Amino acid sequence: MAEKIKIKLGRVQETLLLPLVSRAKETRYKHPFLNDVKSFELYQQLDIDKRRIVRNLSDIGIQGLCYRAYKMDEAIKAFLKKHPNGKIVDIGAGLDTTYYRCDNGTALWYDLDMPDSMALRKQLLPIPNQRVTYISKSMFDYSWIDDIGDISNGLFITIPGVLPYFKEAEVKEFLTNIAPKLKGAEIMFDVISHFGRFFVDIRIKAAGMKDAHLEWGILNPATITNWSEHIELVRTIQFFQGIKKSNQRVSTRIAMRINKFFNMTQLFHLKFV
Ligand SMILES: C[S@@+](CC[C@H](N)C(=O)[O-])C[C@H]1O[C@@H](n2cnc3c(N)ncnc32)[C@H](O)[C@@H]1O
Repeated sequence: MAEKIKIKLGRVQETLLLPLVSRAKETRYKHPFLNDVKSFELYQQLDIDKRRIVRNLSDIGIQGLCYRAYKMDEAIKAFLKKHPNGKIVDIGAGLDTTYYRCDNGTALWYDLDMPDSMALRKQLLPIPNQRVTYISKSMFDYSWIDDIGDISNGLFITIPGVLPYFKEAEVKEFLTNIAPKLKGAEIMFDVISHFGRFFVDIRIKAAGMKDAHLEWGILNPATITNWSEHIELVRTIQFFQGIKKSNQRVSTRIAMRINKFFNMTQLFHLKFV
């Protein structure tokens, strides 16, 4: 049997395990709404404290992280129908497997992450073909915009599970810097309310990631569109809208209702103009 892979990552980087473990677990459910065989394969290779991560993620955590991936996939697939030769940039890619779920055979994919996370990605998910490029940089090193080059065939930027770990001033700096340079691009990321941040932070700590803090809480996308004339709202998606109910425990359904009632987690889909 192949030797399991031990991992050592920085404060925010180690959180990449949470979505990976969630996608792997959901895939093993009887009727998964997200079927991610690649994540399950990876999950099996890693030497991590799986029992503790799964126990502390909780069913609602798993469903939330998979719902995020599912809705991002829908948006990316819709974008690729309109722009089959477009570019997708996955910022803070970690061990994200979006490419394996959404590729159309013609698009160009760019996965960007910090050097330590990217080294792990290269080891576990080697570049699959020439249409995929790995960028080993911080998202705040804006030279990645030069790395992706021409965006006249369309650009979709996905940032799952990254921005809430930064302070609002950092998120503002990031978005207001890239928006005027990437006019026409669509961008989608998940956000958490101030209230929701409190609960999710407890879960992240309980999963063993004691140094990872959720820093940014937001409820209203107007906060962001007011930062720059180059940022427009396409839509917001409240977590768990329209989710199939077949797998859920009663406790999970109650948690979903609370989440919806307080609008704790959303996806913001924006456009740079
Ligand atoms: C919660 S994980 C999400 C991983 C992936 N997006 C997914 O959904 O599976 C957060 C990711 O953000 C990355 N990250 C942290 N700081 C970053 C930065 N300054 N620039 C780019 N990525 C960063 C981490 O390395 C990690 O892979």
